[in-house]
Amino acid sequence: MSIVRSILRSPLAAALTAPHGVDRYVELVHPAWSVRDVRGTVTKLIRETPTTTTLVIKPNGNWTGHDAGQFVRVGVELSGVRHTRCYSVSSSAHRRDRITLTVRAKEGGFVSQHLAHHAKEGDVLALSPAQGEFVLPALRPRRLVMISGGSGITPVMSMLRTLEDEGHDGDVTFLHYARSRDELIYADELANVNARVLVAFGTVFHPSHLSSINLERAEIFLCGPEPMMAAVRACGLPLHEERFTSEPLRPATDGGTIHFRRSRVRTGCDGKTMLEIAEASGLNPESGCRRGICHGCTQRKVSGVVRDLRTGAVSDAADEDIQLCVSAPVGDVTLDL
Ligand SMILES: Cc1cc2nc3c(=O)[nH]c(=O)nc-3n(C[C@H](O)[C@H](O)[C@H](O)COP(=O)(O)OP(=O)(O)OC[C@H]3O[C@@H](n4cnc5c(N)ncnc54)[C@H](O)[C@@H]3O)c2cc1C
Ligand code: FES
Repeated sequence: MSIVRSILRSPLAAALTAPHGVDRYVELVHPAWSVRDVRGTVTKLIRETPTTTTLVIKPNGNWTGHDAGQFVRVGVELSGVRHTRCYSVSSSAHRRDRITLTVRAKEGGFVSQHLAHHAKEGDVLALSPAQGEFVLPALRPRRLVMISGGSGITPVMSMLRTLEDEGHDGDVTFLHYARSRDELIYADELANVNARVLVAFGTVFHPSHLSSINLERAEIFLCGPEPMMAAVRACGLPLHEERFTSEPLRPATDGGTIHFRRSRVRTGCDGKTMLEIAEASGLNPESGCRRGICHGCTQRKVSGVVRDLRTGAVSDAADEDIQLCVSAPVGDVTLDL
């Protein structure tokens, strides 16, 4: 198989299959096959709660594994259009042949509703390599505190499962917030892990909830809804944080023209992000969270001024990498896209 893969990855194969590339032909044989891209086949669905489903996924040979806490960008074809979102890998870092993603169906959410309620065994998903800095330190800390809320449990569950597989015998406290017992994800497993598990139902985080937890020299990992994360942050503790969403973006009010140089497309701006403008122009740049978190949409700006819609700051540096999903042009901008 590795000889076949080497041949398919060769410049000759690329030349023979131009302009579409080898993968366009390989995936016709089987949708999960690809010379370079990571793809995963859904092998099992676990209904965790009425709104949340775990997808057990068999990645193809291009998957190189994940560190506990990392996420992947997941591409789903819906009505012929690929939509990409980020999902934390919830399985142990030691289980490479099968990974799990646990998806909560967001009310009105486009991709999460599909994955949580309509995905089926045999579906093939496009996956990015695992990414993100929210990971367990390589030298496992003796004391860990994990604080999560709602679907924010997924990356810390990967950490907990990884530590379980390693037989970690340190001091681990797992503090989780769920709206109700019915909405508690992984309930059975949490009852049997080698950690002190504290679950709060239908209540919001209060600093007093930390009073029974030994925080001395603890590495603290936090992931959950933004108000909960802000409340924990206000305690002033050193934290490792993962965010699933960001503050609302400012409106893109500056005008201008964007030149997508490699695509030979020039277009005006109409109050959208540069990612939206590229897509509306028929381009299909990589993306993920669409909120400035995953860096999946980073492209090289050749010239011009852009505004960061999170902070309002402008940047005029030539040849800089920008995140298209949180940038808007101020005047004329040229991108190497
Ligand atoms: C690092 C990270 C890890 C995450 N891990 C998990 C996890 O483990 N479990 C989990 O349940 N969730 C997780 N999320 C949240 C997840 O990525 C989605 O935001 C969530 O599932 C809602 O997606 P949706 O498509 O259903 O919602 P939508 O509201 O439809 O879309 C969410 C975002 O996509 C954009 N969008 C809306 N419509 C379109 C469109 N037509 N085309 C393209 N983009 C559009 C919007 O700007 C919106 O910000 C994670 C997010 C991040 C950043
Ligand atoms: S799509 Fe994630 S940073 Fe832009």
